[in-house]
Amino acid sequence: MLTQIPLPEHIARLSDVEAHKLVRQAKLKLGQSTIVLVHHYQRDEVFDHADFTGDSLKLARIARDSTAANIIFCGVHFMAETADILTGGTRFVSLPDLGAGCEMADMATLRDVEDSWQDAIKAGVKNIIPVTYINSSAELKAFVGRNGGVICTSSNAKAVVSWALEHGEHVFFFPDQHLGRNIGKSLGLSVSKDMLLWDPAKPLGGLDDSTIKSRKIWLWKGHCPVHALFTVHQVKKIRETSPETKILVHPECAMEIVDVSDLSGSTDFIIKTIETSPAGSKWAVGTEKHLVERLAAQHKDKTITSLNPFTCLCGTMNRISLHSLAWVLDGLVDKNERNNRITVDPATARDSMLALNRMFELS
Ligand code: 13P
Ligand code: SF4
Repeated sequence: MLTQIPLPEHIARLSDVEAHKLVRQAKLKLGQSTIVLVHHYQRDEVFDHADFTGDSLKLARIARDSTAANIIFCGVHFMAETADILTGGTRFVSLPDLGAGCEMADMATLRDVEDSWQDAIKAGVKNIIPVTYINSSAELKAFVGRNGGVICTSSNAKAVVSWALEHGEHVFFFPDQHLGRNIGKSLGLSVSKDMLLWDPAKPLGGLDDSTIKSRKIWLWKGHCPVHALFTVHQVKKIRETSPETKILVHPECAMEIVDVSDLSGSTDFIIKTIETSPAGSKWAVGTEKHLVERLAAQHKDKTITSLNPFTCLCGTMNRISLHSLAWVLDGLVDKNERNNRITVDPATARDSMLALNRMFELS
């Protein structure tokens, strides 16, 4: 994880009211040169200053299509990297707190992926299509691009994995085993006969040649620690105490939970499902707490609670604060300070684009 330097004192000592004012003033002065993109998991004090909000796919598209010189990305590191790649390094892309990483993305390092890939090639396996969830480093995206693969998000994973299955004998899916397993299952594949779990800490993923040759989807052993906080027990409890409540979860939750839920889908799907549900309906939602709390506040005619009665917080994304946003924006006004720029080197960006473009063609 990158380390964030402490905010300068003139920013750190601002009260919240002053910091909100500074953000508003800076945005006014910067005008259309600057856009603030905010992911749905972000805390309200940051969310309130968004020019655009969205899930990772929507925000990637907005970054790609925008003409703004400055893109302030209130999400996590891989999202800011993706914005830099999609804009060809021509913009100032900033992540207001460098500690805002994605713990899942960190579970698939390029080194481990390359070692595993070589193990598979040495075992004589051919025709493997690598697919990485967008929650991954730029260097992993570039590896995937170089090797004929494609990127997916939770919104388009089904179409992307179907494409990969048509084009290769095996799909190596990074880094989220749960999303990969849920998608494979939704495509009619058997977990025990068609998929395997690849443990990067072990040679050949801890498997043998005949197993890897016989399975279609190889799932990298990574997961999201936030979505790991939802359990089958919580689902059972809701079924017992409130049978009319519908259970809606993100596909980063384990398959056992998705299987016993009523619905599962991306952030965008979760929002649309709640928006279009009838007044009076009751929902227990299995995803990050800020999104669930915002949905509850926006739809007071419905009962919306978290599937987990305790907090499920993406702590890294929430390192971005009102004050760090104020610092980055204020730096651009008059001072021409470019704080927390996120850049991807041209060769990595070029190879990543191959995989990103394949994704956009499929979604
Ligand atoms: P979305 O693609 O649904 O925005 O999800 C991103 C993410 O990090 C979920 O944990
Ligand atoms: Fe990464 Fe999980 Fe946070 Fe999403 S919720 S950004 S997958 S750690």
